[in-house]
Amino acid sequence: MELKITCIPGDGIGPEIVAQAKKVLDKAGEVYGFQPVYTDILMGGASIDVHGVPLTDEAIETAKAAEAVLMGSIGGDTTKSPWYKLPPNLRPEAGLLKIRKALNLFANLRPALLYKELAGACPLKEEISAKGFDIMIMRELTGGLYFGARQTVEENGIRKATDTLTYDENEIRRIAIKGFEIARKRKQKVTSVDKANVLDSSRLWRAVVEEVAKDYPDVTLEHMLVDNCAMQLVKDPAQFDVILTENMFGDILSDEASMVTGSIGMLASASLNDSKFGLYEPSHGSAPDIAGMDVANPIATILSAAMMLRYSFDLDKAAVAIENAVQQVLKEGFRTGDIYSEGCEKVGCTKMGDLIAQRIQ
Ligand code: IPM
Ligand code: MG
Repeated sequence: MELKITCIPGDGIGPEIVAQAKKVLDKAGEVYGFQPVYTDILMGGASIDVHGVPLTDEAIETAKAAEAVLMGSIGGDTTKSPWYKLPPNLRPEAGLLKIRKALNLFANLRPALLYKELAGACPLKEEISAKGFDIMIMRELTGGLYFGARQTVEENGIRKATDTLTYDENEIRRIAIKGFEIARKRKQKVTSVDKANVLDSSRLWRAVVEEVAKDYPDVTLEHMLVDNCAMQLVKDPAQFDVILTENMFGDILSDEASMVTGSIGMLASASLNDSKFGLYEPSHGSAPDIAGMDVANPIATILSAAMMLRYSFDLDKAAVAIENAVQQVLKEGFRTGDIYSEGCEKVGCTKMGDLIAQRIQ
């Protein structure tokens, strides 16, 4: 069986980490009897340098023709890179927003879990981290403030900027359904996060989530205000299973949750549409300061590739094999610099990819 995969190596450490994920996927293919076929496209700064825009229409068409997209990371140093002298709609991030919208990737899954082997890196007090946690942040990805009308004007010499936060009930319903479906396969709890004490969009969010919940009597629903959620994530992260929230809140809370795990280099993500199609990428950024040095941690990208096998190709066994290989390498004490602790063996990006690929059974 062939798997048609479009790859976006992107910027910074992107190309190095995607190369490791491909290596691991190829090995999983040998063991589990599938053949990944990759087509690379440019996005972000890499595309700006060649085409003058962060994502071309041809690149979108190539992505659409595949069954899934595997991405590294995009963007550069916002204070130094010439990409950030360009107008906002031509900067690297605009490519990411464009592909999300063009492929209708409305459901963003960001797991934040505490790895036993890496518990020492968790910045929380031990009495809190000892309980462990495994959270799935479900972030709405194609609506809200990110895609509402915006403008900057000058009225009577006063500059004024406006962004709009709009959701219709269908946009809320489809992400809520995904959230409940996923909770059903986990610990059957959804925490819907909003700001319903202030925002109309949040009051509609809450109402629609309540309606959807009626079809999932086996899943417990609770509502939480976003400011409280930010607090609860550091106070008692073990209380969460699925966190369901809109685009901007999800952007902020997912960074917080990943930091709380202490190992952002380990966290995968998936952005899905209504079919099996998805874009898979690590939760971390492009780390331009360490690009090309072969020291980046490829594990988040490798685990994203595992998510791809699970969600886009129904190859659950191969996905588990990759996840087990990662666990095994950690158990044996191999670490990249970002997750290194005393007594472990420090390895580079390529070596980490090799070690994981070798352990796939
Ligand atoms: C993320 C990133 C993006 C976002 C940026 C790069 C536009 O922060 O994927 O979380 O805000 O969605
Ligand atoms: Mg973000």
